[in-house]
Amino acid sequence: MNEIIKNMLERRSIRKYKPEQIAEETLNVILLAGTYAPSAGGRQSPVIVACQDAGINDWLGKINKAAFRGHMSSAKSYISKEQPSIADDVSLESGFYGAPTVLTLFAPGNFLYSVADCSVAAQNIVLAAHSLGIGSCIVARAEDTFASELGQRLQKEWSISSDYEAKIHITLGYPANDAPPKAKPRKEERIIRVF
Ligand SMILES: Cc1cc2nc3c(=O)[nH]c(=O)nc-3n(C[C@H](O)[C@H](O)[C@H](O)COP(=O)(O)O)c2cc1C
Repeated sequence: MNEIIKNMLERRSIRKYKPEQIAEETLNVILLAGTYAPSAGGRQSPVIVACQDAGINDWLGKINKAAFRGHMSSAKSYISKEQPSIADDVSLESGFYGAPTVLTLFAPGNFLYSVADCSVAAQNIVLAAHSLGIGSCIVARAEDTFASELGQRLQKEWSISSDYEAKIHITLGYPANDAPPKAKPRKEERIIRVF
């Protein structure tokens, strides 16, 4: 198995971070990888904001958690026992899990492929991060988080066109635990071969 495939299979969502900030050179490589993702029509629509302001990340993380409308986990159905998500542990205060760097990907609100564009960029980012020893977690509810008063104000302050919408977050930081979480077994019958 080559290193790229190994990296894909080994990456796990990390929700427990060390407090120290990630190295600037490392972040720059991760962001560069995000900009080289495929994009619909080659438009390179997604804009990536890397926020390292702890106060802003804290507020937005709380707004993000408050926007969670999914089911809470049960003994039978949970996201992660080792690295609980906000669906697993109601006591977690932030949808960003205290990560020192939080990325938000914005793309045009009225473009059919914005979610796909941001999703493939996010995948490049999390794989690049893992290959460099950085933990990451893709986090949903970016639209809700940036629909808030604070989100709208920040979007203006960051000079992001009001035609753009936040589509996805990615938390980044050094993993707090040495042992990575284990992947759940892969579901069967997800691959259909046709000859
Ligand atoms: C579109 C998308 C949205 C996600 N949203 C969240 C989220 O809001 N909060 C969270 O903790 N994890 C989120 N995740 C991470 C998943 O929970 C995680 O990928 C899944 O449990 C599988 O674990 P793994 O990434 O370690 O393989 C999201 C993943 C994807 C692809």
